[in-house]
Amino acid sequence: MPGISRPRGTDDLLPERLAAIEHAVTVGMALAAEYGYRRLETPIFESTDLFVRGVGDTTDVVNREMYTFADRGGRSLTLRPEGTASTVRAFWESELRQESLPVRLSYAGPMFRYDRPGRGRYRQFHQFGVEVLGEDEPELDAEVIAVAWRWLRQLGVRGTSLQLNSIGDAECRPRYRQALLDYFEPHLAQMDQLDQERLRRNPLRILDSKELDSASLLDAAPKTTDFLCDDCRSAFERVLTALEAYGIEYQLNPLLVRGLDYYARTTFEVWHEDLKGAQNSLFGGGRYDGLSQLLGYPACPGVGFAAGLERVVLLSPPLQAQPKPKVWVIAAQPMAAKVVIETAELLRRGGRRVVADPGRRSLKAKMRSAERAGADLVALVGEDELARGIVAVRRLCDGTQVESALDGIESTLASLLTVSQ
Ligand code: HAM
Repeated sequence: MPGISRPRGTDDLLPERLAAIEHAVTVGMALAAEYGYRRLETPIFESTDLFVRGVGDTTDVVNREMYTFADRGGRSLTLRPEGTASTVRAFWESELRQESLPVRLSYAGPMFRYDRPGRGRYRQFHQFGVEVLGEDEPELDAEVIAVAWRWLRQLGVRGTSLQLNSIGDAECRPRYRQALLDYFEPHLAQMDQLDQERLRRNPLRILDSKELDSASLLDAAPKTTDFLCDDCRSAFERVLTALEAYGIEYQLNPLLVRGLDYYARTTFEVWHEDLKGAQNSLFGGGRYDGLSQLLGYPACPGVGFAAGLERVVLLSPPLQAQPKPKVWVIAAQPMAAKVVIETAELLRRGGRRVVADPGRRSLKAKMRSAERAGADLVALVGEDELARGIVAVRRLCDGTQVESALDGIESTLASLLTVSQ
């Protein structure tokens, strides 16, 4: 079809899929509220610095995937690629910071990444996420996982596995980083250029590598969990115990470092058997105790997750069909338009779903539209009905037709619908 098409990597959310996404958000928000989370919304664009400093300038998200532009005032702004840095900023810039800690927040909305478009991978996509700010108790890590896990169950998503790891903290991670460097050093020459760069700038990034040369080396690479300091190790054990209390099974995955720099200690993703590889996780999250300081605020621990709604909906069983308009009010001649509009408004005030069709198409075409849309009843107004001050009401399933005065139409509809049900 000639004409301007939508930008690559974007999608129009047509009514059925939008309904599925909204349903997923409604279920998620209600569930999160049961655990004490309150919804907030942050701006869709932020200062570029928020993500460069928060997500990290060695990550793919910041290096290659941000939609960054200068506004008319010359400020560098970026369409948000994720919601965690914004949530931490909003916490500090509002009265939330005065509340008793921890503060539990949830959000949903569009995110933007200049990613390679594919199945379940878009340049504009939607996330549902939660964050807990202000406390570093490991049980909170398990709590956010429990919210995510129960949410997927409620939506009917099956075939998922929880991948769990601890990547240590500022104390033990340098030792792990060095071990990675030592391990890959002898193989540098045969590695992809991008991976060599990753190793040089942020060695942990190598564990996300999709390049075959490096991926084949990953199995025998040093594991984060072998390098944890005592504090990180005991925190991780508490996460595992709490997950058991929630009744959630997990798979330990010592290669899971995640693509964003702000994480410390717990990291996790949920994978689905139909989505291949870590890039295609349903959701991801972890603890980010250092993020607040990276953004220039006082220290404030945090943990959370975000899920890709397009992916979740892709793997959820289809929703029941949306409720269709029940009544169509049709003008058999253009002269009946006014009465059609008035009748439709009258019925809507009574709470019915009504589509008005006062236009000039033929009666036959209008009847066909009503049938296709799954209408139960059609109210017809033609020349004869106008002259007599009535409306003809037809039940589509069996063709029964009765005449009704305008002021008695609501009860006529009600009796026709009761009989047909
Ligand atoms: P993330 O792993 O970058 O984490 O993204 C979370 C989820 O967003 C992914 O698991 C995936 O389902 C979805 N997603 C990411 N990129 C795309 C894309 N291009 N198309 C469709 N879906 C996508 C974060 O964003 C962190 N802020 C999560 C978090 C919250 N960590 C702590 N709190």
